[in-house]
Amino acid sequence: MKKNIAVLEGDGIGPEIMREGLKVLDAIARKHGHSFTYIPAPFGAKAYFDYGHPFPEQTKGICDGADAVMKGPVGLALSEMNRIPTEMSPEPAALLPLRKRYETYANYRPVFLPKSCADFSPLKPDRIGEGLDILMMRELVGGIYFGEKIEGKETKMQYARDVSDYTAEQIERFAHVCFNEARQRNGQLTSVHKANVLATSRFWNQLFESISVKYPDVNLKSMLVDNVAYQLSVNPTQFNGVMALDNMQGDILTDQAGGILGSLGLMPSACLNLQTGKGYYEPAHGSAPDIAGQNIANPYSMIGSVALMLEKSFGLGQESRDVWAALTNVFAEGYRTKELSRNTPLEKVLSTSQFGDKVAEKIMAS
Ligand code: IPM
Ligand code: MN
Repeated sequence: MKKNIAVLEGDGIGPEIMREGLKVLDAIARKHGHSFTYIPAPFGAKAYFDYGHPFPEQTKGICDGADAVMKGPVGLALSEMNRIPTEMSPEPAALLPLRKRYETYANYRPVFLPKSCADFSPLKPDRIGEGLDILMMRELVGGIYFGEKIEGKETKMQYARDVSDYTAEQIERFAHVCFNEARQRNGQLTSVHKANVLATSRFWNQLFESISVKYPDVNLKSMLVDNVAYQLSVNPTQFNGVMALDNMQGDILTDQAGGILGSLGLMPSACLNLQTGKGYYEPAHGSAPDIAGQNIANPYSMIGSVALMLEKSFGLGQESRDVWAALTNVFAEGYRTKELSRNTPLEKVLSTSQFGDKVAEKIMAS
């Protein structure tokens, strides 16, 4: 198989974790006889300084023409971010426009921790039970993120407004993806809402319930978002299966899930439009400028995003499973990245590049 991949390495730890993602992709290509061509493109805060825009026109063209887009995190240290005008900062001017450009409404954020890795989690091992396997699905192009915003001079600095709206079409197309994912797993779907207060949540619940009739094999449960936050920390395994979240609630609870795993570095993600097949892949965390350039960041999130791309954009199920297995095996041999190490013998603590080497080695050996 031949594929062209746009590579947006981003800022901070972006370049170093992207390097490991591509290393693993190269191993997959070698093992299975594929050919992946990487087309680098500037994106993020550094792109603003180098090209005057965090999502330059040339990058848009490269992404439009690619079979898939791999993206690192964006954002530099505060001192540098302060030199970027608000309207040119990477979130409103690059990241959200990227999501909107391809209408990547389905954001897959797998939260996976096998029992053998229970010690990564700050929770007691018995809370992790037989392991965590929650596919958190976040709606990514609607809700309060994209509604009308009023602030600043327009309101004479007396108030600010963020509108949250969802159309039936936006909720329905997302709900179908969630039900289908639940059907392919253990049949459990938890839909998250704040229906005791929010109209959009009541609407969300109505639509999920009416769609559920079409998926009799899926057990739909609805739960208030504040309760989910609580339950996630005391009994997370009850959510094994799929969790459906709106844009804002999904942003917050997926970071909480990263905390439960023990590191945001264990949070890969896929952002897809199932109708057009267009997708981009990114870690669910930030650019960690405080540890950038030290070769200590955990590249798992980027490598996991590669696994998601192989499966979701290229239909390469076996190749994707090879990557997941290699990731799990590296941990099973006792290796840890720095932030996960605790009483770990020094020779088992891997740098960013060593972790990528190990995963690539495992793939070649399998
Ligand atoms: C994420 C990030 C983004 C979001 C930020 C950087 C705008 O936190 O992908 O979770 O809120 O969606
Ligand atoms: Mn976030």
